[in-house]
Amino acid sequence: MHRQTQYGATAKVLHWVIVGLLVVQFPIGWLMPDIHRGMEPGDAMTLHISIGIVILLLIALRLGWRLTHAVAPESSLPPWQRITSEAFTGCSTC
Ligand code: HEM
Repeated sequence: MHRQTQYGATAKVLHWVIVGLLVVQFPIGWLMPDIHRGMEPGDAMTLHISIGIVILLLIALRLGWRLTHAVAPESSLPPWQRITSEAFTGCSTC
């Protein structure tokens, strides 16, 4: 496990790409036509599903990165945020 005190470029890029895709994904989900039995999925639905799959893959990648590149939690964080940020690694000093 690497010792780090700050999030690296990979973690930041993955984080913000996921945020950006979610910002696009919600309006597409709300605005695309309702799905009905037997209907052909339109372009909006195809795009929605494709973006959803990409988001899922990026989340899995980010989780894997998080497990192998832990970041020491900021000491000024409130206790509940420190505890939840350490939940995956159980690390209080890494
Ligand atoms: C992070 C990923 C995703 C987000 C944030 C998201 C978000 C949304 C939202 C906000 C809606 C509208 C719900 C409503 O109008 O009540 C929606 C609808 C829908 N989404 Fe997603 N979605 C995601 C991934 C996916 C994926 C991967 C699939 C398919 C494999 C999918 C299939 C659908 C379908 C079938 C609908 C319903 C359309 C309808 O009949 O109104 N979504 N989604």
